[in-house]
Amino acid sequence: MELRFIVTAGPTREHIDPVRFISNPSTGRMGFAVAAAAARRGHAVTLVAGPVSLSTPRGVRRIDVVSARDMLAAVEEELSAARSGRADVFFVSTAAVADWRPRRMAASKLKKASMSGILELVRNPDILKTVGGCRKIGFAAETGDAVAEARRKCREKGLDLVVANDVTAQGAGFGARTNRVVFVTPDGAARPLPLLSKAAIGARIVKFCEALSRGDVDSQWLGGIG
Ligand code: CTP
Repeated sequence: MELRFIVTAGPTREHIDPVRFISNPSTGRMGFAVAAAAARRGHAVTLVAGPVSLSTPRGVRRIDVVSARDMLAAVEEELSAARSGRADVFFVSTAAVADWRPRRMAASKLKKASMSGILELVRNPDILKTVGGCRKIGFAAETGDAVAEARRKCREKGLDLVVANDVTAQGAGFGARTNRVVFVTPDGAARPLPLLSKAAIGARIVKFCEALSRGDVDSQWLGGIG
């Protein structure tokens, strides 16, 4: 049973001028791990990556993007191509998309004397919320009650799974090679996983997608995933 995966990874950059941007410290490791795990299982994988310094996993098609709007356009194009095939399509959104961008990008480098000190920002599209016609897996990186926030995001974005984590926990968050996550499903169930490498979490996400495609996901199946 071959599935079709579209995975986003890394940060986006929202340019102020050619040499300055708004971004975040996402390394892209989680998304690259999901893409590698899916390819290893024989699925067809496209990885839409923001600016990161990681090499492309074997068997994965990679599209490099810079901004949130570029990322959305690449995902929509891949999704419409994927939907014409017969495989079940999974969109796994691990990217740390910048929620805001400067209203205007200056075409040439701004001189500090010409800057007012006020940067006008506008909202970026929510890629995960915008796209449809596929199964959707989201992440919820929180500093408080990660499970409650994950349940809200699951409802509001129409997701099949939210991978929630408290980024302040030890061994978790940006840059770490491990993570402690909770799988939250649309019925509100929360299944905590032990501290695992990002590679192992990626493999479990792919397993979840395979089980969902077979129609196997229930509380008993989820209980066995840790
Ligand atoms: N996401 C996205 N596009 C955005 C923002 C987020 O696709 N513009 C995706 C992320 O890849 C992640 C999920 O949405 O899978 C949750 O992102 P997060 O930043 O935790 O949540 P927000 O929706 O931005 O909500 P809030 O700021 O209220 O926590």
